[in-house]
Amino acid sequence: MRWSGIVPHDNAYFPRKKLTVVGSGNVGATAAFLAAYKELGDVVLLDVMDGVPQGKALDMYEASPILGYDANVKGTQDYADTANSDLVIITAGIARKPGMSRDDLLATNVKIVADVTAKIVEHSPHSIIIVVTNPLDAMVYTAKKVSGFCRKRVMGMAGVLDSARMRSFIAEKLDVSISDVSALVLGGHGDGMVPLPRYSAVSGVPLPELLSEKEISDICERTAQGGAEIVQLLKTGSAFYAPAAAVIEMAEAILKDQNRILPCAAWLEGEYGINNYFMGVPCKLGGGGMEGVIELDLTESEKTAMYTSLSSVKELVNQVNTLGVLE
Ligand SMILES: NC(=O)c1ccc[n+]([C@@H]2O[C@H](COP(=O)([O-])OP(=O)(O)OC[C@H]3O[C@@H](n4cnc5c(N)ncnc54)[C@H](O)[C@@H]3O)[C@@H](O)[C@H]2O)c1
Repeated sequence: MRWSGIVPHDNAYFPRKKLTVVGSGNVGATAAFLAAYKELGDVVLLDVMDGVPQGKALDMYEASPILGYDANVKGTQDYADTANSDLVIITAGIARKPGMSRDDLLATNVKIVADVTAKIVEHSPHSIIIVVTNPLDAMVYTAKKVSGFCRKRVMGMAGVLDSARMRSFIAEKLDVSISDVSALVLGGHGDGMVPLPRYSAVSGVPLPELLSEKEISDICERTAQGGAEIVQLLKTGSAFYAPAAAVIEMAEAILKDQNRILPCAAWLEGEYGINNYFMGVPCKLGGGGMEGVIELDLTESEKTAMYTSLSSVKELVNQVNTLGVLE
């Protein structure tokens, strides 16, 4: 038998999208697997550790005949393999252990994220970057400064995860399907994040009509401590299934030009009265990246919570700037 008419892959008229995940640890490897499974494009998984991204990538590729997805997954330590990625997810860095706050990671992770970003810009100058590494608000600031990319092309993942946690707790409390529950968490990705019960609902019915003030405040508190709850249980690292699912929801919205409205850490240019800081706000995510910020009308107490959260973000950014890594 002779095969004919087979076009080499790099001559394809409709090439697949290319997605790079930097960091092949818990979040990175899970995100790469989900991206391949959802056929978002060909996936490159990069890490400084020899063999780990290669082994995990091969393992993922070998799952494709069973799960039935068409995506190449390549593990590497070489940024040349990431060249011309459409989208890059940065998960490289250290994660929290019990007793650590996200902010304790700053000094180590700022150097890693600055280095990774510079290499990404060199090899994929037209890419869109989503940062996952913590402390998120400081790391996405680092990626923005080092890349020099416009705000459409650099954003952070936090709000999708925090809102998903809140949705899970609401669904559990009311014993209803998660599909019918929406929730919104804004602000920085720290203890001062801002869950918004007024903008959370079950099949359109606002949360304050379904639960008491105390029940809502317990859910908000558990949401803000959602990451710490998992760190306490795992003892050796932090959450990764939900974080990976969250960043892949953002990646899918961009790579498939879905025009989703999702809460993301976005660089604000006057929205919510905030200038030149990343904050978690509802954004439109589509083929152009972070295509716009949606400004909600907040009550006085919600605004106060946003500005309190902003002061923690500012504190983190000051720490980044005083380290001198970005000069
Ligand atoms: N934004 C969020 O909501 C959120 C949620 C969960 C985790 N996180 C953060 O994501 C990061 C990753 O978490 P994890 O659980 O996957 O950690 P992990 O320790 O399992 O993996 C981190 C990986 O990064 C790699 N790495 C370190 N330096 C690197 C470099 N210079 N280049 C490439 N790779 C490098 C490590 O070798 C390791 O494999 C942590 O900072 C964590 O706090 C953020």
